[in-house]
Amino acid sequence: MAKPVLKWAGGKRQMLDEILPRVPSENRFDRYFEPFVGGGALFFELEPSNAYLSDVNSRLVNFYTQVQQRPEELIGVISELIRKHSEELYYERRTEFNEIPQNAKCPDLLLRQAGLFYYLNQTCFNGLYRENEEGDFNVPYGRQKTDPSVQPDQIRQAHKALQSATIKSGDFMRIEEMVTDNDLVYFDPPYQKLSGGSNFSQYNKKGYASEEQDDLRNLAVRLHKKGARVLITNSISAKSLYTANKIPDPFRVVDVTAERAINSDSAHRTVASEIIVTNISPFELTDTDTLPFLQ
Ligand SMILES: C[S@@+](CC[C@H](N)C(=O)[O-])C[C@H]1O[C@@H](n2cnc3c(N)ncnc32)[C@H](O)[C@@H]1O
Repeated sequence: MAKPVLKWAGGKRQMLDEILPRVPSENRFDRYFEPFVGGGALFFELEPSNAYLSDVNSRLVNFYTQVQQRPEELIGVISELIRKHSEELYYERRTEFNEIPQNAKCPDLLLRQAGLFYYLNQTCFNGLYRENEEGDFNVPYGRQKTDPSVQPDQIRQAHKALQSATIKSGDFMRIEEMVTDNDLVYFDPPYQKLSGGSNFSQYNKKGYASEEQDDLRNLAVRLHKKGARVLITNSISAKSLYTANKIPDPFRVVDVTAERAINSDSAHRTVASEIIVTNISPFELTDTDTLPFLQ
């Protein structure tokens, strides 16, 4: 089974125990859509045979495209970057990464960009991805307890999982016209800010506005009306977006807790309260043993 190849803020590996029992088995849906793919924890766990993955971060999407199409060359580029590594080289490579145009077309530049993307993800502070106003990646060097390493087998497994996937960069709203009845859509947007809190939502220069949380809910309702199955994860503070007057039956909201993984210091990991919003009926789920426990 494949695993996420990147560290990603808001990655859902720690929450899979809560999410998986709420996902119907593959023979019960046609295509799998994940329009905020990030680290792709659920996608890599499910390895669906027909998937559409997207994210607004075009460098992230290029990384997955290179994993899909040129895994061995990518492993070669990363191995070379990791063989020589220091704080000084980190900043040189960050500059090189930012100098590659986001809309680059040259295949070798795109391969290099993907290699640098992985290298920076492994060596930056807490594996964060954040951009400044100019769209430059600006996360500082992160002191690691262990040396960075390339995981060739993980990249090869991800390569296999991605063979069935279409991978595009773009806004989540673009999936609307593609989704039809019987498709499964998993939305994992940047989280609604906890009141007074400073949780992370600045994945790119544009950020994620609170109106987009409303747009997402309204899109989920329209997809439900088309006959699609929808699953959304968000922070507990998004609960007010999903009250009964805003979403129709059979949508329901379930409270869950999950450990946040992006902080490298395990002593400072926090247990966050999150919600899962779904229109998937527990009766559609194969594992009937879990039924009594599912809300
Ligand atoms: C919470 S993360 C997804 C984490 C992912 N589920 C995982 O397991 O790693 C949210 C993602 O949404 C992306 N994003 C932010 N705004 C977006 C938008 N308007 N449309 C599509 N993707 C967006 C970010 O780049 C980020 O990768």
